[in-house]
Amino acid sequence: MKILVTGALGQIGSELTAALKKKYGAENVVTSDVRTDKISEEFLPYETLNVLDKARLAEIVKKHQITVIYHLAAILSAAGEKNPQLCWDVNMTGLHNVLEVARELKVKQIICPSSIAVFGPETPKINTPQQTVILPKTMYGLTKAAGELLCDYYVEKFGLDVRGIRYPGLISYKTLPGGGTTDYAVEIFYEAIKNKKYKCFLKADTVLPMMYMEDAIRGTIQLAETDFTKLKNHSNFNFAGISFSCAELAAEIKKHILEFEISYEPDFRQKIADSWPASIDDSASREQWGWKVEYDLEKMTADMIKNLSSRLI
Ligand SMILES: NC(=O)c1ccc[n+]([C@@H]2O[C@H](COP(=O)([O-])OP(=O)(O)OC[C@H]3O[C@@H](n4cnc5c(N)ncnc54)[C@H](O)[C@@H]3O)[C@@H](O)[C@H]2O)c1
Repeated sequence: MKILVTGALGQIGSELTAALKKKYGAENVVTSDVRTDKISEEFLPYETLNVLDKARLAEIVKKHQITVIYHLAAILSAAGEKNPQLCWDVNMTGLHNVLEVARELKVKQIICPSSIAVFGPETPKINTPQQTVILPKTMYGLTKAAGELLCDYYVEKFGLDVRGIRYPGLISYKTLPGGGTTDYAVEIFYEAIKNKKYKCFLKADTVLPMMYMEDAIRGTIQLAETDFTKLKNHSNFNFAGISFSCAELAAEIKKHILEFEISYEPDFRQKIADSWPASIDDSASREQWGWKVEYDLEKMTADMIKNLSSRLI
């Protein structure tokens, strides 16, 4: 197996790369990203790649004889509302390029993340079902919804093995998130540890589905390793971790950092958050590929504070 990770320097990519190297051997994981800044050794071998450049993507796939692509390059929800044109280009044309190169060069498997952003205000908010109303209101959400359909088209039409998870907001300490609506749930830890206070850009009672990165990485690799014939869904798996409000997270942090104070100043991201579910029904993932979450709010908060404190203090 020879793996290519696109968007590897991002929040998920930086941790997924390490996990893939550990599992399949460092020499079997090639990383790539549009960024050209100095790349640390843990990402080598590294290829600079803008996913809009299909010829360059094909060149890298041929050069390294790639058999599996984890396609993580994307523009996320909040960044996408600031630049919807770029969001469309990267998330749609970039994905189409990956699928086309995979088809042309007979890449065996593509893993392509989706998001809870595919859901919209008309979707049932509690225990959002696998099969439900998909009417997203953000550019990011609509690229993810169309992306799921495009991936499934390649499965049906060309027999390509494409799989994907609808990630909730991901919480991690290694790399800062890249412009999503759930970023508050990471920023809050940095500010709590450094300054003992945080001004939240969402309202106190905003409940969103979240997950600790450890769980997300384990689940992603578990889905990738599942026998393809066992899957009824492909690129749109609901994936549940923990649901909590901003105030509940702040209260949990306060158990570790007694002086911590939170204030609220909602901005444009509140509207995006209000259009998303509060909790997710992930029975399709549990039934088809054995998904089981490990981190609850308490365990996740303790682990975040322990790991971030040793990095920040
Ligand atoms: N992090 C989350 O909470 C979350 C939630 C739901 C879904 N997802 C999905 O997971 C995937 C990875 O997300 P992430 O959180 O790591 O995002 P991120 O923003 O942290 O990282 C994305 C990476 O893509 C790179 N990139 C941007 N434009 C590019 C281009 N044209 N060509 C190549 N690289 C480019 C960026 O430099 C960045 O390193 C995305 O598809 C995202 O939609 C993430």
